[in-house]
Amino acid sequence: MTTNEIREAFLAYFARQGHLRIPSASLVPFEDDPSVLLTIAGMQPLKSYFMGADTPPRPRMTSSQKCFRTNDIDQVGHTARHLTFFEMLGNFSIGDYFKDDAIRFGWEVSTEVFGLDPERIWITVFEGMDGVPGDDEALEKWVELGVPRDRIQRLGEADNFWKAGPTGPCGPNTELYLDRGPSFGPEGGPAVGGDRYLEYWNLVFMQYERAADGTLSPLPAKNIDTGAGLERMAAILQDVPSVFETDGFRPLIAWAEQASGRRYGADGRDDRALRVLADHGRAMTFLASDGVVPGNEGRDYVLRRIVRRAVSEAGHLGLPPDAVVGLTGPVVDGWGDAYPELRDRAAEVRDVIGAEAEQFARTLTQGRRLLGEVIARSEGTVSGEDAFRLHDTFGFPLDLTLEAAQDAGLGVDAEGFERLMGEQRERSRAGGAADGASDLSERVALVARESAPAEFVGWDDTVADTRVTAMEELGDGTALLKLERSPFYAEGGGQVSDTGRIDGPDGGAVVVDVMRLGADQVLRVRLEQGHLPVGSEVTARVDGPRRRQTQANHTATHVLNWALRETLGQGVRQAGSYVGPDKLRFDFTHRGRVAPETLVEIERMVNGRVDEDQPVGWEITDRQAAADAGAIGLFEEKYGERVRVVSAGDFSQELCGGTHVSRTGEIGPFVITAEASTGAGSRRIEALTGTAAVAWLRDRERALLDEVAARDERIRELQSELKRAKTTRTDVGGLAEQAVTIGDVRALVAQVEAGDMDELLAIADRLKGTLGDGAAVVLGAASEGKALIVASLAPGAVAAGLSAGAVIREVAPVVGGGGGGKDAMARAGGKDPERLPDALAAARAILTAPRGA
Ligand code: ALA
Repeated sequence: MTTNEIREAFLAYFARQGHLRIPSASLVPFEDDPSVLLTIAGMQPLKSYFMGADTPPRPRMTSSQKCFRTNDIDQVGHTARHLTFFEMLGNFSIGDYFKDDAIRFGWEVSTEVFGLDPERIWITVFEGMDGVPGDDEALEKWVELGVPRDRIQRLGEADNFWKAGPTGPCGPNTELYLDRGPSFGPEGGPAVGGDRYLEYWNLVFMQYERAADGTLSPLPAKNIDTGAGLERMAAILQDVPSVFETDGFRPLIAWAEQASGRRYGADGRDDRALRVLADHGRAMTFLASDGVVPGNEGRDYVLRRIVRRAVSEAGHLGLPPDAVVGLTGPVVDGWGDAYPELRDRAAEVRDVIGAEAEQFARTLTQGRRLLGEVIARSEGTVSGEDAFRLHDTFGFPLDLTLEAAQDAGLGVDAEGFERLMGEQRERSRAGGAADGASDLSERVALVARESAPAEFVGWDDTVADTRVTAMEELGDGTALLKLERSPFYAEGGGQVSDTGRIDGPDGGAVVVDVMRLGADQVLRVRLEQGHLPVGSEVTARVDGPRRRQTQANHTATHVLNWALRETLGQGVRQAGSYVGPDKLRFDFTHRGRVAPETLVEIERMVNGRVDEDQPVGWEITDRQAAADAGAIGLFEEKYGERVRVVSAGDFSQELCGGTHVSRTGEIGPFVITAEASTGAGSRRIEALTGTAAVAWLRDRERALLDEVAARDERIRELQSELKRAKTTRTDVGGLAEQAVTIGDVRALVAQVEAGDMDELLAIADRLKGTLGDGAAVVLGAASEGKALIVASLAPGAVAAGLSAGAVIREVAPVVGGGGGGKDAMARAGGKDPERLPDALAAARAILTAPRGA
């Protein structure tokens, strides 16, 4: 059976048993499950059904769920079976059938659908622990089906008790193993460990919920959760030694063989590289197609890490960094039928991975340079600190450090490196556990369970007359509280929680937070006076202005999403958002920056839709109908038969649980305030609406005006500096030497450079100072198409019978102008600067003419 046939046979069998086939949820868990970075099991998307917080579309369901586990990431490639991404086949019962049927289905699928030899099947059941008895029931059911008692073993909590996480749904399980025969190891059943007995299916009897302190309490119903790794099943049924030789992986290995010219099975180190490329190539394609973009935190970092690791391994095979993009092709071909999103997003996925590979290539170049320096100064061994710094700061893999060191005849202190890595892991663990959040979420969960789920009425109403149904004081002046009907929006889909008030006959409180638990919610309030006991009739009021601004920003986000897709292409995909009363932020996939003129166009388009004042509405419909109608955002949404579609006019339809204005006109003016990169292949736009947009524009205007005023001032300063500089530049000493001495008079006539009359006067003054009491100075300058002339006489020259005014009167007409003044000082302007030499010659003649006295 091919992998696709195995998947189909499993799902079809359970469909015949009355199970609803549900599509795989995204690898990105929905917003209300912060307990994991990525989906780790088939039950994960169904968690709220197990907890009783939501009603499932049908009590029996079956799926093939995309899963990703990071715990073994470093093992991948080294072994025959470790994978990061895998598909989990599962059947689920929410309060419907329990152990008997689950075990019977497991047996039938194993022996009839998959045709496994019953003689080779081994079973483990739970041996019991404090508070939970051993599972004799399951054991007897297996015996009843014909499994001999000596092929059923009892194992403890580590093997046969399954938990979805440190807290949450859990229960004892029974596991199915296949004996692969004596060539794989000693006999003795799963209890002896080793490779001979291969676990292929886990049936969990999900009936408890685990609190943070480890105590178990019964879930509202007894449930079934099962998981069978599809790849492992394929390896068994195709009788191949490892998952990498199954039909699913072969095309990936073949692609890498072809690209590199190496052969799988020829060399241990090459095999490892080929396996890593196969696993990581598939994993990165699936992650990126679920909207994850490489980055430095959380799931973004997981993607970054696997792309980088793939690039390093590709390098080992002699392939360039961007070769890893080629791996996406066989993944889309092999899995595109089962997971259509792979085809839909193939182009973006290539872009996102290509960009990260390029970025990493630059990192590698930088790292290599640094490594060269490190090697040059290391004696004998590269220190653990250096290796760690290369890894931690530059993302340079230890492998490459080892290789390069080896080439240079050096060792690497790998132990020191590991110690520093260990310390770093320790630090991040401590950071994660120190926030006390789990304690609060525990109490929130308890309060939530005290009453039926709160009915959210806030899509239409912001005020509700209702009743307190649960309440617990936290001792710090705040309390957790639950309402029968609540108008308060709980953070989700990017939109922040509402705030507001609750008032009853005996007291009042301010709502400071709203916490979402599946379809249910719990409020955190600060008690202001009196109390709000369970049962009291209260009025709940959302902070209206805050909500209105938030709604305007939320609808604007949808309109922006539309405009982005119109301008940048329908491939643009939302990669996160923040919608608050203060602003909106929208992250989306796109390579390269958005040109300023495109941003202006996007802004104009959004404002155009605002002007049209189109109606905004919502309806609950089924998922398929929404998809058929072209609604976007299907991907992040939790699986459910019924979905909520928000539409604006006929141009935007998005799956969305948030609150919105009722007409686009209510958004008011829209301005984009920032556009930036948030990592390889993704961009962020920030924007404002309404009065915040106007205030921002006003602020900008004021800032611009201030800036202009400051520049004017600066220009004035510079102009006078320039004037000073020009004056000083005139070589006063050199000019003074040209003065002609006649008796007591020292006459100087010259053409100089000056911007205006003031400057010319300043030069004349300095010359007078140099020439002394007999100075008679006449200067001319051409400036801006005009002739300027100044005559300036020291008292000795005047006493000798000269007059500045007389000189000017004589020469001004030569330059086509007029002027006059006193004996000591006179000036003139004229319109013929080219005649200055003549005018100055005339002046010189007057000053140097023989004077009788
Ligand atoms: N949720 C169970 C597992 O992951 C079936 O093994």
